[in-house]
Order: sequence, then C-alpha cells, then structure tokens
Amino acid sequence: MFQKLSIIFESIADGQRRARHFGSFRNPKNLIQDQAELQKDIHLIERALALPEPRRPFGVKPAARISAILERRGHQLPAALLAQADKALADLRAWNDRGVRPTETEVKFQGSLETFLASRRSVRAFSSMLQPSIEQLEEIVALASQAPSVSNTQSWKVRAYQQPADIEALLGLQDGNVGNSPIPTLLLVSVDIRSFTGGNERNQMWIDGGIFLQQLLLAIHAKGWGSCPMNFSATNNQAAKLRSLAGLADYEEVIAFVSVGETDKSIAPAASIRKPVGDLLVFASLPTSR
Ligand SMILES: Cc1cc2nc3c(=O)[nH]c(=O)nc-3n(C[C@H](O)[C@H](O)[C@H](O)COP(=O)(O)O)c2cc1C
Repeated sequence: MFQKLSIIFESIADGQRRARHFGSFRNPKNLIQDQAELQKDIHLIERALALPEPRRPFGVKPAARISAILERRGHQLPAALLAQADKALADLRAWNDRGVRPTETEVKFQGSLETFLASRRSVRAFSSMLQPSIEQLEEIVALASQAPSVSNTQSWKVRAYQQPADIEALLGLQDGNVGNSPIPTLLLVSVDIRSFTGGNERNQMWIDGGIFLQQLLLAIHAKGWGSCPMNFSATNNQAAKLRSLAGLADYEEVIAFVSVGETDKSIAPAASIRKPVGDLLVFASLPTSR
C-alpha cells in the first residue's frame, strides 16, 4: 500500500514541476523557451526539405515565427543557433524561389567508429519498399539488446509491422509523419513497466526505453538501413487508442515508433545541426569544495 501511494505521490510532484517549467505551445515566455521554439521551427523547415516531395512554396508561418524570435532575442541568442536560423531561412528561400534543396552536411568526425556514430541520420525519404528480412531484423534487435538497463531488467519489446495496411493504421495515430515516403517496415518500441518497483523507479521506463531506442537506431544503421525515430508523445486517451489498435497491454508504455527502409541517397537528410559542446559539457565542482 505504501509503495502504491509513493508512486502516485511522486508522480504528482513530477507533474507539478513539469507544469511549472514546461513552455506553452507556440507561446514562449523566457529565453530558454524562445531558443527551444526557434530550434523547433528551424527543424520544421529542414525536416520538410528532407521529405520526398516538399510543398513549394511553404514555410510562411515558421519563417515568421523565426523572424519574430530573432527580432525579440537576437543579441541574446548563441551564435551557433543564430547561424542555424539564418541557414534555415536561406535554405527555405532557395527552395521556394528556385526549387533547390540544401546539400548534405559533412560529417566532421575522424575514425571509422566516430564517423559511424556521427553519420546516423533520421531518414524520411526511402528509395524503395524493400524491407529488412526476418533474419536481418533479428540481428538488429539482438544488437540493440546489448543496450544497458537498470539491474539488467531489459524490459523492452519491439513489434515489427510489415503489412502496408497495418502501418497506415498505426501512423494514423502518430503525429509527425506527414510528407514522409511510404514506410516499408515500422517498429513499435515499448517497455513493460511491471519490471519496476516503487516511487523511486517511476521514470525508469523512459530512461531504459530511450537508451534502447538509440541502440536500436545504431543497430539499424550498422546493418545499412535508414531509419527515423517517430514520437509517440501522447495523452493517456491517445495511448488508449493505440493500446486497443495494436493490442498493447495496460502495463506497456510506448517509447517510440521507428521507420526502417532503404535510404534515398538523392535526398539529403535534415542537417539537424548540434549545439556546440561548450553548451552541453560543464566542468563542475560543488559549492562546498570551492
Ligand atoms: C523520441 C524521438 C521522436 C522523434 N519523432 C519524430 C517524428 O515524429 N517525426 C520525425 O520526422 N522525426 C522525429 N524524430 C527525429 C528528430 O527530429 C531527429 O532525431 C533530430 O532532428 C536529430 O536529427 P538526426 O536524427 O538526423 O540526427 C524524433 C526523434 C526522437 C529521438
């Protein structure tokens, strides 16, 4: 009984903190939210330019939002993000005015493993309906299962869908696939939350599931296939529809969908430029040791 109350109490505290700090949709209120909004609109443009058949012209609204944030925050924004915003707007103009797509970004890492890690990209344009075989999918999932998990619980599950009608029905519940090529194989990654106990492990499924998802993407890349992780950022109501459609148990949480197919090499993937390392890595010390 105490354990159940603890899970509920801790989850309410999580919810309260998220409600305090999450942004409101397309209505940023502080610098960090402005930066996130800017990043999302940049990505909206670069993602569209990586689709098989982008609309032309497109992008009036995201371009206007980008310009508004640049005007409001210009001098406060990191130089790298400013450069990215300028590039997205220039790429959009090149497409709308002349029908020219951006070229593929160069991988700047050395060494075969580093190049491999840095060259995985989300692929939204597939060149055929070729599917990985059962054996290939087994090899991919075996590699993915080398991911670490808390106490080695390995609570993951991958459902592989290869029937076009199934894929279409599932994608009807996914928000983020408009304009993609038809998807040859769709994976649904979930986690069995019965593996976890107590209020302290209430978020463990997202951590183990996220690590597994990344290893799965790298395994797909290692086997020469293209992939795109596809969100299932859903309310409980939306999740209930997917549970019912796909026969997912109440104890399964959906981590993401993943499309798999043959990369269309004639279409550059979205650049999705990364933040400078200095924005991520902080050499820290505790106030007490200073
Ligand atoms: C959990 C998750 C959900 C995502 N959902 C979508 C999606 O619904 N549609 C899409 O086109 N891309 C989606 N992406 C891909 C991201 O846009 C992409 O990973 C990011 O821009 C970095 O680019 P890269 O994967 O090419 O390195 C998702 C990525 C993650 C990790």
